[in-house]
Amino acid sequence: MMRTPIYDFLTEYKIKKTARFHMPGHKGRGPIELSDITPYDITEITNADFLFDSSDSGIISESEKNASSLFNSALTVYSTEGSTLAIKTMLFLITKGKNRKVLAARNVHKAFINACALIDIDVDWLYPEQSLKSICTMKLSVSDLEKALSAYKKDELPSAVYITTPDYLGNMLDVKGLSGVCKKYDIPLLVDNAHGAYLNFLKDNLHPLNLGADMCCDSAHKTLPCLTGGAYLHISNHAKNEFKNRADVKEATQIFATTSPSYLILESLDLCNRIISDKEYKDKLNKICIRVKKLKAEIMALGFDVINSPDTEPLKLVLLTKNLGIDGKELLSTLEKRGIFCEYADISAVVLMISPENNEDDFNALLLALKEIKSATETTVTDRIGDEDIFIQRTERKLSIREALFSKAETVPIDKALGRICALPVSICPPCIPLVISGEVFDQNTINLLKRYSIFSVNVVQCD
Ligand SMILES: Cc1ncc(COP(=O)(O)O)c(C=O)c1O
Repeated sequence: MMRTPIYDFLTEYKIKKTARFHMPGHKGRGPIELSDITPYDITEITNADFLFDSSDSGIISESEKNASSLFNSALTVYSTEGSTLAIKTMLFLITKGKNRKVLAARNVHKAFINACALIDIDVDWLYPEQSLKSICTMKLSVSDLEKALSAYKKDELPSAVYITTPDYLGNMLDVKGLSGVCKKYDIPLLVDNAHGAYLNFLKDNLHPLNLGADMCCDSAHKTLPCLTGGAYLHISNHAKNEFKNRADVKEATQIFATTSPSYLILESLDLCNRIISDKEYKDKLNKICIRVKKLKAEIMALGFDVINSPDTEPLKLVLLTKNLGIDGKELLSTLEKRGIFCEYADISAVVLMISPENNEDDFNALLLALKEIKSATETTVTDRIGDEDIFIQRTERKLSIREALFSKAETVPIDKALGRICALPVSICPPCIPLVISGEVFDQNTINLLKRYSIFSVNVVQCD
């Protein structure tokens, strides 16, 4: 069984019943409702290690090495501040001392935009031919990437290619093919794999590290049994050696991170290693994937559309609502009234995230609710979903992300935004994918798009 050095240390500390003259202020005693967990919540006392310590010994370093062996990485470091911190760190590592330009597929999470503003990264955006057919998804083919990279002069190539896969709807890109193109141009491939930590444990390993990514972030908390905030930054075995230095990675992480990382989260990452290293977890995971396939078929038999393509990850269930004549948000609140709480909904879809911890009771409750909703909507189908053609399109950009975000700005009603430059990125969360990015100019399509998402005021750069 895999060792759990952080948990073991904290358990021993809890049993010792010491006088705690250190942070946190609860001293392991309360609030009473949390008294099961507060004894495990400490600070960097003697022998508790320090998350940003670059030395190779200590309980955190041992636990990170366990994670690294599970993901078959050259180096894995923990984040207690989600993939958000890991994204900043990857981008810093990849651009330090280099051209601060990154080529990125447009459906990035807001964390990427904030990191670019902080590090002053110039982004060349990859867009699909027409427009994004959903705010969450961007299909990027091997030939799209080849075409984009071949258009650069050799000495102007970006320092990295950055993609998001799986996306919020579960779509997955061809990481193997895309990494092949990156290798040809000698450019690292960075993957936002926030939604895909579990892909490493499927029968066919679909984790980006296994498919050729050089670095990636995984939000352990999104799909693995880990507390919210727990995440990994992985450096792959085939990344260049210059990126594999533990001290450099730790240095880069601490630039952006709190100096008070949560030991509860570290402990949950540590215990998570023990669970996911167990064969029983892999069996449970593969069983649940089969169950979700069947669940999708059962839901389709009720008359619902679900995303069911082989390019999607197995544990996202996406209900498409267009043919129901209701929008996703309406379906979401109807489900909530029946005790079913989902991850996300937008105009045309509701997203449910499933893990091996879900059980038959959950699935039966969902099926029952959907059955009731279907029979209720059949009598009230209306044609309220329109404007299918309004999606994110390439727009004029007048300032860099950093310049725009740090500019003097003002908030204006959306109808007054035409021709103005976006200061703060505009997104709905989740999925936190910016509809407009700092530095871009508001055009009529963008304004229509924002209204469609009920956004009626925006932050723009002040005119002189
Ligand atoms: C695609 C994507 N990337 C990054 C993040 C940020 O992850 P975290 O919440 O772990 O910081 C999210 C969060 O939802 C996400 O959906």
